Parts: sequence; C-alpha cells; structure tokens
Amino acid sequence: MSGEEELSFSEAILRASGSISRFPLIPVRGVPLMCSIANNWDSVWSFCPDPADLLIATYPKAGTTWTQEIVDLLLHNGDAEACKRAPTPVRSPFLEMFSPPPTSSGLDYLKNTDPPRIIKTHLPFQLVPTRFWENRCKVIYVSRNAKDNLVSYFHFDCMNKAQPEPGPWEGYISKFMHGELSWGSWYDHVKGYWAEREKRNILYLFYEDMKENPRREVERIMRYLDLSVSDEVISRIVELTSFKNMKENPMTNYSCVPPPVFDQSISPFMRKGEVGDWRNHFTPEQSKMFDEDYEKQMKGVNIPFRDLI
Ligand code: A3P
Repeated sequence: MSGEEELSFSEAILRASGSISRFPLIPVRGVPLMCSIANNWDSVWSFCPDPADLLIATYPKAGTTWTQEIVDLLLHNGDAEACKRAPTPVRSPFLEMFSPPPTSSGLDYLKNTDPPRIIKTHLPFQLVPTRFWENRCKVIYVSRNAKDNLVSYFHFDCMNKAQPEPGPWEGYISKFMHGELSWGSWYDHVKGYWAEREKRNILYLFYEDMKENPRREVERIMRYLDLSVSDEVISRIVELTSFKNMKENPMTNYSCVPPPVFDQSISPFMRKGEVGDWRNHFTPEQSKMFDEDYEKQMKGVNIPFRDLI
C-alpha cells in the first residue's frame, strides 16, 4: 500500500502543479488563509471528528512533522516499518488543506482513514471546528519561540511555491509582527491555545523542550495519550525522530511533495532543526525592534518561551 499511496500522493501533486501557484490569502473571520482553504471553509468548519481522533495543532513551522512522527510511532509501539507505510501527510492528514485536482484534500484523506486518526491543523483556536471540543478529542499543541518560528517560516515560504511570496527578510519580519502571513498572527495563535489549555485538556508543548530533552517530551506525549510503551521503545522513538533520521527518511522529509511545489534546492524542509538560529538572521536592531513589539503583543500572558537553550 505504501508504495502506491506515496506514488499517488506525489503523482497527484505533480499533475496539479501546473495550477499550483503562490495562492493569495483571503481572511476567514479575520485570519488570512490560502484562498484554496478560504474557498472551501464551510466544509472544514463542519468537519466532525471521531472522539478517538487526535488533533496536532501548531502555528506553521513549530515542529508539527516531528510531533506527528512521534505520535505515529507511539501508536505503533515504535515500529519503524509500520510508520514507513506512507508519507506524513497521508498518515496524518492536514485538516484544512485543499490543492487543485487531482490532489486529494485533507478531508478526502480523513474520509478514507478509520479512526483513531492523527489530524494536523494550523488553524488558530477559534477556527478549530467546534466538534473537536464537543467530542472531547485530545489535542496536542506545539509552540516554538517567535524568532526561530519566524526564521523557519521565512525559509519555508521561499521554497513552498503554494505560499505567498515571502519578499525580502526585513519586510517579512514586519508581516510576521502584523499577523499578515498564512494562518495569521503567531501571537494570537500561541495565546489562544494557551488560554484554553486547561479547560480543553490540551497538551501544550514547546519545541525547545523537545530539543532539550526529547525523551522527557516523548514520555509526556505517551502519558497524555494513555499509552504505555517500554523504555526501550521510548529510546527507539527518540532515535527514529532525531533531526538527522527524519531528514534522511523519505516518509518524513517531504520529498513526497515534488520540486515544482516544494523546491528543496532553495531550502530543505528539514532545514536546521535548532534552537537559536534566529541569531544568524536578525541584526541587533531588528532584534531590539522585534523584542519591543513582542513585549506589547504578549503583555499580560506568561507563556514560558525560550529562544536559547
Ligand atoms: P527549521 O526550519 O528551523 O529547521 P513543521 O513540521 O511545523 O513545518 O516545522 C518544521 C521545522 O521543524 C523545521 O525547522 C524543521 O527542520 C524542524 N524539524 C522537523 N523535524 C525535526 C526533528 N526531528 N528535530 C528537530 N527539528 C525538526
């Protein structure tokens, strides 16, 4: 199945690539989304998950793929082969993603997969279909410090030909600060899930914690999912989900999205996987200006972000 599905996933995108361009953004309840998503919003909003489904929610580039892989491995007791059955977006569908035909949408993949499913979303809290909450689905939110998140998003927007043109670095910082990138404001995103985490039983994780002590975070995820795997399996999962291994794994490194859409010669999907790379991008002036604005936008909330470990 895996070979066929991988081929069909890549093939479909390749065939659609002629009609894939840098999609303009259209606001949905004030949040800028790719027009392909905005134009199909009603079907996303009315999606009804199974209570056994798990949602992995992130602002783009916060560590989604890493977390999807950890969860899939936990659900398969660390079986590497089982988790090579298909590329990430087939194993763990992207709820709101729509691309031109013959590409299947995230909702199509969900229709064809039995629960429990690992569902990915970048939607901010207020745009998550309400039935996730009504059905008390488990939700893992992964956040990453603003500056590294922004750097990673910039490189991604350079290579992903479906995202709006990033433009020059300086202007990109400004777009990030003003919430003008796809999926909107990073500040509102991280604050939205933070405010709801206790009421909704959301597991709120940090990329920096995962880098600092991956074993601790894998165990945290395991407990949240009410799973129990052996120490040896945990060690294997930590190893299989190292940056190096995921970069080399064709099922996780997004080589499944062909170069007309993801041009990995511009920037690899598995780019650096580090904490603190922002220091190689921000000038001291840019950093100061960003920090001053950050203080204002994050006033009154105390989310323990770390931009160095
Ligand atoms: P960089 O661009 O900083 O390298 P997402 O999956 O949400 O799109 O996030 C992608 C970011 O997570 C990229 O960051 C990518 O390299 C990083 N990443 C992916 N897998 C990782 C892993 N196993 N360990 C550390 N970082 C990882």
